[in-house]
Parts: sequence; structure tokens; C-alpha cells
Amino acid sequence: MHTDFILRGLGRHAPDRILTNADLETMVETSDEWITTRTGIRQRHIVSPGEGCTDLAYGAAKMALKDAGIEADDLTHILLATYTSDYVIPQGACVLEEKLGVKGKIALDVSAACSGFLFALETARGFVALDRNAKVLVVASEVNTHRANFTDRATCVLFGDAAGAVVVTAGDPEDGPRVLDVKLGTDGGLGDLLTVKGGGSMSTYKEGEPVRDDYFIQMQGREVYKHAVRNMTGVCKEILERNNLSVDDVNVLLPHQANLRIIEAVGKKLGVPEEKVYVNVDRYGNTSAASVPLALSEARDNGFIKKGDLVLLTTFGGGFTWGAALVRF
Ligand code: ACO
Repeated sequence: MHTDFILRGLGRHAPDRILTNADLETMVETSDEWITTRTGIRQRHIVSPGEGCTDLAYGAAKMALKDAGIEADDLTHILLATYTSDYVIPQGACVLEEKLGVKGKIALDVSAACSGFLFALETARGFVALDRNAKVLVVASEVNTHRANFTDRATCVLFGDAAGAVVVTAGDPEDGPRVLDVKLGTDGGLGDLLTVKGGGSMSTYKEGEPVRDDYFIQMQGREVYKHAVRNMTGVCKEILERNNLSVDDVNVLLPHQANLRIIEAVGKKLGVPEEKVYVNVDRYGNTSAASVPLALSEARDNGFIKKGDLVLLTTFGGGFTWGAALVRF
């Protein structure tokens, strides 16, 4: 009996279009210097007109399926972590199922903002625990730039669009990277510090009315920063402790790529040396739920993560939501 949870394949996809800090200088009152010193972001990928969440998800899914050597039709479940699904109905996972050319799967959207990937990964582990033959596609895909207010310089410079994917099955250690543990947490009491309210049932629009500010990402940046550092650090310590591991056992720390200062602060507080911390926020910006699987796929392919490495993933997002996972490559 296969008792491990295996990441059979990894994939990623970012749209071709790039928005640089210089481009943003022409759109809002900002500067490359302000953005790079405060966030570490130099550019972000953004969708073109007509390109949506499930288009990015499709690209990442195809790559992960190819990497896994699995046909889309062999999947039992399709999970899509996103807060920027193409539509309210039908749900994005169903649209993705159709794009993959398959039917009859269990397709499900998972919403936990920037932590969505780890919440979907844990959901996938649940499906695999229920059925050892399950083959679960987990995709995280975001079109953040359609929810960024490009007249608000404090938020619009932070975000980018992308997708990342994994295929989760039961298996043995030789079958691929093993998910050793996942730990999640939430605090609904702090939800108002980071919101996208417009379009929800509490924020109604009448036909012909323009969208209001609440349609876009609104955030109290400094507060979010503090909670992000505190919770990612905390959950990383907890997951290591409950697995009888120490920070020294970690070969790679791969945090949610929100901004460089948060990433550096988490690494420093945990005592993980800089050279073990994976960073790609400079090239993609904050891609919300997509950031961790995007970085994971990239870091494996460019050799930053090597076979045998213990990788510690951690996320933080609106809700608030947070999580950590340990993966042995
Ligand atoms: N360009 C130039 N000036 C700017 C910009 C900009 N893009 N944005 C804000 N400013 C100005 C402000 O108006 C303010 O000016 P003032 O002092 O004259 O009023 C000044 O810069 C400082 O603004 P703050 O918002 O206090 O800047 P801060 O140092 O806190 O940095 C930042 C802002 C980068 C957003 C920071 O709070 C942060 O990193 N927060 C974390 C939030 C985050 O990354 N969230 C992502 C989503 S959640 C997640 O993924 C975890």
C-alpha cells in the first residue's frame, strides 16, 4: 500500500505581457526606486485582453501533467485555488476541466487568498487519503491585475498574474517529492485588513453602475506586513517542531512571494541563511495563490532545489489565512 503523498508533477505558467516599474511610473505617481526598495519587485507578468484565470491555469496544468506523465483523463479531481476565477458561476475548476477536454471529474474551487495553494494541497491530501487511487490536479492561478486599482499606487505596484500546478497521488518515495506535512491556520477577526469586497453579495451593483473602490484590493499594508511575518514564522516553527525537525534540517525555505522585505524578515526570524531562501518576487510580483507553486516548479527546474532537499513552504493571505508544508524532494 502506497502511504506517501507524492507530488508527481510540477508546472507553471505566466502570461507573456510584462509590466515594468518604468511602465508603472507612467501610470501612477511612483518610481522604480520606491518600488524596488520597499518591495524588491522589478516587473510583473500581466494578462492580455481576453486572457483569464483558467487560461493561465491551463498552461500550468498541462506542464504539470506532462511532468507527471499523466493524461488529463486519468485525473480524478481538479482543484483550483484562486480568488480571481473567470466567473462566479461556473466555477473556475469546471471551466478548466472543459479546457483540459475531460469530463466527470470532481472539480472544485478553493478560496483562501494568497494561502490558497496550501489549502488546496491539504484538500488534495484529504482526497488521496480517502481514495489511494485518486489523482488530484492542484492548480493555483490568479489574475490579480484585474482586481488591482491602477489609480492606487500603494497597491497596484505589488501584484502580478500567473499560475502554478502540481499533481498529487499516493505513492512511494521513489515516485517523486513527498509531502510530509501541511499545517494551516486562519483568523477571520482580521479579515478587514485585506479585502476584495465588490462583487460579493454584501456589495451589490445595479445595472449600469460603475464599480466602486471596494471592487479592488484594499489593504492596510503595514498591518498586513506585521501579521504576515509573525504568522509565517510561527507556522514554520510549529510544523518543524511537530515533525521533530530543526531549522538546520531545512535545505530550502520557499515563502509566499509577497514582497522581498517580508521574505527576508521571515528567513531572518527563523534563522534560515539567505542563500537557502528562494526568491522570484523581483520578476513576478505578488501572484497571490500562484506564488508558491510557481516558485516551486521554477526552483526545481533551475536546480535551486535538489533531490533529497527538505523544502519548507509557507504562505500568508487575506482572511487572514496562513500555512506551511514540508516537502522532501
Ligand atoms: N510609490 C511611491 N510612494 C508610495 C507608493 C508608491 N507605489 N505607495 C505608497 N507610497 C507612499 C505613501 O503614500 C506614503 O507617503 P506619505 O508618507 O507621504 O503618506 C509613503 O509612501 C509610505 O507609505 P506606506 O504605505 O506607509 O509604506 P510602507 O513603508 O508601509 O510600504 C508596502 C508599503 C510595501 C505595501 C508595505 O506596507 C508592505 O510591504 N506591506 C505588506 C503588504 C503586502 O505585501 N501585501 C500583499 C498582499 S497580502 C499578501 O500577499 C501577504
